[in-house]
Amino acid sequence: MDTIGLYRTTIGKKAVMAVTGAALLLFIVAHMIGNLAVFSGAEAIDGYGRFLREIGVVWPMRIGLLGVIALHFLAAYQLTVKSRKARGKYEHRRRVQGSYAARTMRWGGVIIALFVVYHLLDLTVGWANPHGVPGEIYANVVADFQLWYVVLAYTVAVVALGFHIRHGLWSATQTLGITTSRVIGLGVAVLICAGFLSVPFAVFTGLVS
Ligand code: HEM
Repeated sequence: MDTIGLYRTTIGKKAVMAVTGAALLLFIVAHMIGNLAVFSGAEAIDGYGRFLREIGVVWPMRIGLLGVIALHFLAAYQLTVKSRKARGKYEHRRRVQGSYAARTMRWGGVIIALFVVYHLLDLTVGWANPHGVPGEIYANVVADFQLWYVVLAYTVAVVALGFHIRHGLWSATQTLGITTSRVIGLGVAVLICAGFLSVPFAVFTGLVS
């Protein structure tokens, strides 16, 4: 079967979800670790941002991320349509556990996508940020997380991301034929949530100011 033929199958679309999901997870982990530079002060995190721009990785990364996100969404959308059509034939059948996880993944995905738009306007462009100077990462972050509703918005999004990763990681390893226990997905999700949320809560409690 050729690549297009494989993509037409459910397993082909699930493989695209798994591989693009893995690429997004790599970005998430790198971003979470990079954010921890906030704990070393303004020069550390602003310098880290400057360094990434100077070595020229920012634009290739943005283009790569856009492509990967587009594929992840397209495959998710097509899998949803496919599963709705399949279920249509058996309308009398009650919704089962599998569809509960799938619905949670869809809603989680929508919340994360909306968050990313807000997050870019907040910390990359600066329009939605009380300080809002591009490149002044430390000052932008500190201005943001003084506000309880900003901390709340980030917390909701990061927890949604945690649930998405917990199930997504397990699901992806099943698709790719790597058997893992559910505990690994849970552990990775908890570490990522804790790492991301440490920044807003450190600012909100005055640990970083
Ligand atoms: C508390 C959590 C987070 C903090 C403090 C944070 C912080 C930041 C900062 C400061 C920037 C701007 C860097 C710059 O342009 O100079 C940024 C960019 C970005 N963040 Fe986050 N982030 C968080 C969570 C997330 C999450 C959960 C995601 C994805 C789901 C994410 C995705 C991105 C993306 C895609 C960019 C744009 C990179 C670019 O093209 O410039 N961030 N983040």
